[in-house]
Amino acid sequence: MNSDALFKRSIEDKENFWKEQAGNINWFEFPTDILSPDKNNYPQWFADGKLNICYLCIDQHIEDGFGAQTAIIYDSPVTNQKLQYTFNEAKEEIAKFAGGLASLGLKKGDTAVIYMPMIPQTLFAMLACARIGVIHNVVFGGFAPHELVVRIDDCKPKALITATAGVEIAKRIPYLPLVEKAIELAQDKVDHIIVYNRRLTENKHEMFDGIIDYEELVKNSEPIDCVSVESTHPLYLLYTSGTTGKPKGIVRDTGGYAVALKFSMKYIYGIEPGETYWAASDFGWAVGHSYTVYGPLLNRNTTIIFEGKPIMTPDAGTFWRIISEYKVAAMFTAPTAIRAIKKEDPNGELVRKYDLSHFKKQFLAGERCDVATLDWFAKHIGVPAIDHWWQTESGWPMLGLMTYDENYTIKRASAGKPIPGYDIKIFDENGYELDAHQEGYLIIKLPLPPGALLGVWKDYERYQKSYLSQYNGYYFSGDGAIKDEDGYIFITGRVDDVINVAGHRLSTSEMEEIVSSHPDVAECTVVGIDDNLKGQIPFATVVVKNGSLITEQDLEKEIIQMVREKIGAVAFLKNAMTVKRLPKTRSGKILRKLIRTLLDGKEFQIPSTIDDEKIIDEIQEKIRGYRA
Ligand code: COA
Ligand code: AMP
Repeated sequence: MNSDALFKRSIEDKENFWKEQAGNINWFEFPTDILSPDKNNYPQWFADGKLNICYLCIDQHIEDGFGAQTAIIYDSPVTNQKLQYTFNEAKEEIAKFAGGLASLGLKKGDTAVIYMPMIPQTLFAMLACARIGVIHNVVFGGFAPHELVVRIDDCKPKALITATAGVEIAKRIPYLPLVEKAIELAQDKVDHIIVYNRRLTENKHEMFDGIIDYEELVKNSEPIDCVSVESTHPLYLLYTSGTTGKPKGIVRDTGGYAVALKFSMKYIYGIEPGETYWAASDFGWAVGHSYTVYGPLLNRNTTIIFEGKPIMTPDAGTFWRIISEYKVAAMFTAPTAIRAIKKEDPNGELVRKYDLSHFKKQFLAGERCDVATLDWFAKHIGVPAIDHWWQTESGWPMLGLMTYDENYTIKRASAGKPIPGYDIKIFDENGYELDAHQEGYLIIKLPLPPGALLGVWKDYERYQKSYLSQYNGYYFSGDGAIKDEDGYIFITGRVDDVINVAGHRLSTSEMEEIVSSHPDVAECTVVGIDDNLKGQIPFATVVVKNGSLITEQDLEKEIIQMVREKIGAVAFLKNAMTVKRLPKTRSGKILRKLIRTLLDGKEFQIPSTIDDEKIIDEIQEKIRGYRA
């Protein structure tokens, strides 16, 4: 069936379509309820099906005779290590670690936070949780303690699994002081802290009293079998930025997710079992969950855990070295990583050092990919670079190309067409569908297909308000978009307070809350401005309190430090410009879009609602002085 026919069927005959797809994974009990409402009348998939995703990712392949196949490659240029694990070896470690967790009293339905770097033990911890029905929440290692506290207090974990340190290029990031601080600040007390000791130095402070050593726990525990969970049992929570300061705990189900990922590996990524598939994302992001861990392992692909950066570890040829060394068939990264490589290796000299003959496709997502980067890629790498669009909420692509069908056509700057299951429309603010070439809000008709979020953790109201309240019967994505006459969609950017900095999703409202808590700040705004390398970076514009004696330079330094301490270095707030006044509407709303346009140096129209036009000149003059 060609991809258009597949899409049509997924919308017109959705239950049968997804029932057939469900037949491609092994259930302990095959579902009879394919699509049914939950208690809030929200549609859910395969409700009475029973399965275990760790079984599908590991045990089943061993039972099928592939135990000796390499499941996981760990390549860490920052620690000079390369390791490989077969499915047999992975099972041994995961089953024993799961036994260890069970011996500590963790059971199905409990939660565990995983705050770890890009090492195999992180993947083992995720699958060990899944093995016994413990809901994991992986927290990106670049987040500061405050972010960890928010998650601990929201999901109340029984265990926190961490490591002694992460490594950022040559810099070592000790995790335990961060964990200790988070535990101290959190209202909820975590029962068990399990630490994987990386032995990167002889630092005695690394292990503190009361912690459990990961390796000891594995060594002293009996392996445990996979428990059977309901399809709608939450596999994990993944917190993501929204329009308020507090991140949302996106809830992922088990059965729908497994079915969707299996479908995506075949149809979207066009990848066969046994091939090597590499998503170079941190475990802490949705891509890391779906395409470094669950998707490839479900599909019996060898997956790669890469601990390093696309550049400087040791150079901008790292990606091509890995693709060549492990015969990677398809790779997935954020455009920012390719931009970083392009900047270091504009003429593709490092690319030519490697044999890329096994490399078939490059997938890109996380932010818009500029055409110059696509051109560089086409010139020097020569394999198709396929943009696709999705969100933490969806867990798998919503726009893209179905590359199993060799006849797919790439349209540059477009993120592709709707993926089967996603009935995507572009609406104006009054809920009217827009014609081709008109910019509007990207929305999706309910029900969302299997794999998409089940809700926001213990907060149905927030789920409803964030996604379902804007247009009755539709999911509101938060992105703007334009469709063309062939059905290709072009993402124009977020329509809310979310920005994407080097492929990391961050909330400007959260940053505004931090900046305005500075004692000298009267009011402020943080907007995302264009950046050649990172796509977007945050920029704070502040008004100081009357009578404040702080210098502009000191204020900027302190603000930068505050954001770094609260969110983490990834927030990348490097500018805080002081102005006399912020432009506002007559009703007192800050004109953020205008500020962003002024900072980007783009042409602007004076908003008809502006209270005082003179502020525009004031700000433009300030920008000229600030940049000089
Ligand atoms: N732990 C601790 N600190 C981290 C971190 C982590 N896991 N990840 C990033 N940081 C720190 C960096 O060290 C840096 O700190 P500094 O300001 O003290 O130097 C800061 O956060 C900014 O990091 P980043 O934005 O990642 O910039 P970079 O220059 O280190 O790397 C890229 C640039 C493009 C290579 C990198 O951002 C990247 O690979 N992005 C892709 C993201 C991705 O995969 N997203 C998933 C969607 S596909
Ligand atoms: P995250 O939840 O971190 O995956 O971020 C999701 C957001 O990233 C989306 O809402 C988009 O704003 C942006 N995004 C993801 N993929 C793309 C893409 N291919 N093109 C443009 N923006 C993208």
